[in-house]
Amino acid sequence: MTSTPLISVRRVSKRYPGVLALEDISLEVAPGELLAIVGENGAGKSTLMKILSGVITEYEGEISLRGQTVRFRGTRDAERLGISIIHQELNLVEQLSAAANIFLGRELRTPWGLLDQAAMDQGAAELLDQLECLIDPRAAVRQLRVGDQQLIEIAKALSLETGILIMDEPTSALTESEVARLFRVIDRLRARGVTVLYISHKLDEVFRLADRIAVLRDGRLVEILDRRQTDARAVTHLMVGREIEETDLSSPRQPGEPVLEVEHLWLPWPGHARGWRLEDISFSLRRGEILGIAGLMGAGRTELLECLFGASADRPAGRIRLDGQEVLFQHPAEARQAGVALVTEDRKRLGLFDRMSVGQNITLCTLDRSLRHGLLSRRREDQRAALIVEQLGVKTSSVNAPITSLSGGNQQKAIIGRWLLTQPKILLLDDPTRGIDVGAKAELYRLMDQLCRQGLGIIITSSELPELLALCDRILVLCEGRQTGEFARAEATEHRIMEAATMRRAMANVSLDCERFS
Ligand SMILES: Nc1ncnc2c1ncn2[C@@H]1O[C@H](COP(=O)(O)OP(=O)(O)OP(=O)(O)O)[C@@H](O)[C@H]1O
Ligand SMILES: [Mg+2]
Repeated sequence: MTSTPLISVRRVSKRYPGVLALEDISLEVAPGELLAIVGENGAGKSTLMKILSGVITEYEGEISLRGQTVRFRGTRDAERLGISIIHQELNLVEQLSAAANIFLGRELRTPWGLLDQAAMDQGAAELLDQLECLIDPRAAVRQLRVGDQQLIEIAKALSLETGILIMDEPTSALTESEVARLFRVIDRLRARGVTVLYISHKLDEVFRLADRIAVLRDGRLVEILDRRQTDARAVTHLMVGREIEETDLSSPRQPGEPVLEVEHLWLPWPGHARGWRLEDISFSLRRGEILGIAGLMGAGRTELLECLFGASADRPAGRIRLDGQEVLFQHPAEARQAGVALVTEDRKRLGLFDRMSVGQNITLCTLDRSLRHGLLSRRREDQRAALIVEQLGVKTSSVNAPITSLSGGNQQKAIIGRWLLTQPKILLLDDPTRGIDVGAKAELYRLMDQLCRQGLGIIITSSELPELLALCDRILVLCEGRQTGEFARAEATEHRIMEAATMRRAMANVSLDCERFS
């Protein structure tokens, strides 16, 4: 590195009880560069970034900023020196508005010391505008989808006039067009001289954005590579320390009889111009089949899964049959009883119980199976959890460790494990590989394939089309709440799916054009 480093990390280590999360890391970041940080789940990426942004204050080693040694006592210290972090797991106050979240702790006030709501709404609107994000700044965060929430976090960092922006998997909940939009924002920030540290599991993003790529493995820095002198294969190899076997999912599965039949499902959308979140959806799922649901953000993928699970805010109309029995679940507990399992897209909000251990989080839905003479057998509970931990390769020091001590990807695996224990007839997975590393993804694909071959029916949504194409027997495409395509494996291509996923909008444009010319 020729110029004086902006950040230098010297011999930093971080120890947790039973885990050495970071071991003797030294690296430098040049002003204005974009350094990508990659590594498997649990490699230590988030930990390193939390140290750099003042979230973690206890560690060994030294950090300096423009040659000055710094020791942050909290995120405020880091923010004052122009370092902001956008966390992997969303960190917003759900009941507050977008604007209130952006200005949280730095509320704008009138000359009389009152909260200046109008100025904050205005400021928030401008920031969100820069991100091409079209939500109402007064909307409560709770009502927004994960993708929009993530953009609010980014707006918040922008509002701090950050010189060093740390992004921990910022695109994990974004659709392709939102990712493209985010990249435009990053390009603009870099043109202004902002230095970016960027964690991602998606190597195509890393290669699109990075100047250099730091590879972490098991808490150590394996290597820092110049992006122009390496490729994805080499980086993957350094990350996992072995070749990843390509999961061969090509051998055809033999789906059995229908386990789920959905006919004319409508989900109302009170107070919204469109009137319906889902309009007249019909499809079926067979035993031993993987059905993919594709669509852009807002297409209704999550809503559809929620309907099937009795978890939608409004009551759907239509017919749903499970194993030939008519069902329309009013509550998730009923769905679970009947053999439906849902792994939600937002694990923090709907899936994880922060104050519980890894084991308790896994066995939560099936505690009845840990009973002995009517009492909860802790040992039995631990055994069942340990089995899942092993089967799914959850990286944890023990089943008794707090769930919050697991890396993001490993938390996700624990939740999937929880639902597998319920031995469901159908498994609904809402973007399950979000934030999961390449190795764990391959394991998860294998697991899904295997479960399917044992007769489970799986419905999966994903924001990554190649994933759906590789995994699914059939793909259903939604666009703005309507079913705009259904493709068997052999006829599904990325192009055809995208076409169906944007059908409505394309037609709207056509009609606009017609108006113009008429
Ligand atoms: N609060 C904590 N208590 C105990 N162990 C922790 C804690 N936070 C992280 N760890 C452990 O430190 C290691 C590194 O975790 P970290 O979250 O930095 O991984 P990561 O590279 O960000 O992974 P992912 O890709 O899954 O987000 C993991 O083994 C994790 O279990
Ligand atoms: Mg992480």
